[in-house]
Amino acid sequence: MTTGIILAGGRGTRLAPATNHTNKHMLLVYDREMIRYPAETLVQAGITDLVVVLGPGGSALVDVLEDGSWLKGLGLESLVYVHQGEPLGTAHSVQCAEQAVRTEDVVVILGDSFFGGSLRHAYETWQENPHGALLITVMSDYPEKYGRVVTQKGYIWEIKEKVSGPPVPGEVSTGCCFLDNEIWGYLKGLDPSPRGELEFPDALQKYMVRNHLRAFQYDGFWTDMGTPEGVFDVALVMHNLPGKNG
Ligand code: TTP
Repeated sequence: MTTGIILAGGRGTRLAPATNHTNKHMLLVYDREMIRYPAETLVQAGITDLVVVLGPGGSALVDVLEDGSWLKGLGLESLVYVHQGEPLGTAHSVQCAEQAVRTEDVVVILGDSFFGGSLRHAYETWQENPHGALLITVMSDYPEKYGRVVTQKGYIWEIKEKVSGPPVPGEVSTGCCFLDNEIWGYLKGLDPSPRGELEFPDALQKYMVRNHLRAFQYDGFWTDMGTPEGVFDVALVMHNLPGKNG
């Protein structure tokens, strides 16, 4: 069994002014609050236990997700909340979830991640070999916006964060990753990045240097809803779903 951790803290500055007084994950994206997308993605993939990490303005998210009963039909068994308090970074957010995790392994998803299709195959791949880490990647036309990954025989040997330069299509990190219980030790050994945050990609580096970081290339639509463009793209995808635009 794998616990799903949804990172729903942070400041959401890229979506200001909408996020000046509202938690980013509460914003309406097409017909529902942003937070519902990653929650549904994990449960639909087969994850039965969720931990949601809350940050500033997070209590509103509890009003939306409640006890997760709206996901029970998809297989959800438990949903618990933990509080991050200050947004000290994505790795810190994962660390806050540790106290609530009862399983050997976890899957982390960013609260602003949108997957247009199912992660069931990714979860099955992880279950066949639940050791090290399995990062979900996707091909992007704009890899310079994300962390570009360099793989060899399914293993990742480099993650280049938000590099500049002309857009050349490439494989990028979605930030969604299955992890074994080594993660808790790796998180404790992290130093703050130049912007003063504990960064989740730095924890992935710890797997990478041991050659324990694999890639699962997801072939559906993925985007980060943390920008106005991302929110717009998701609305368009949702609008064009069969049965939604008639
Ligand atoms: P980001 O989008 O990198 O950060 P952010 O949400 O603060 O937004 P911005 O960059 O526009 O200021 O974070 C990715 C996800 O991780 C997002 O859904 C929120 C979550 N997160 C936390 O849970 N805790 C944190 O400390 C941070 C920085 C992010």
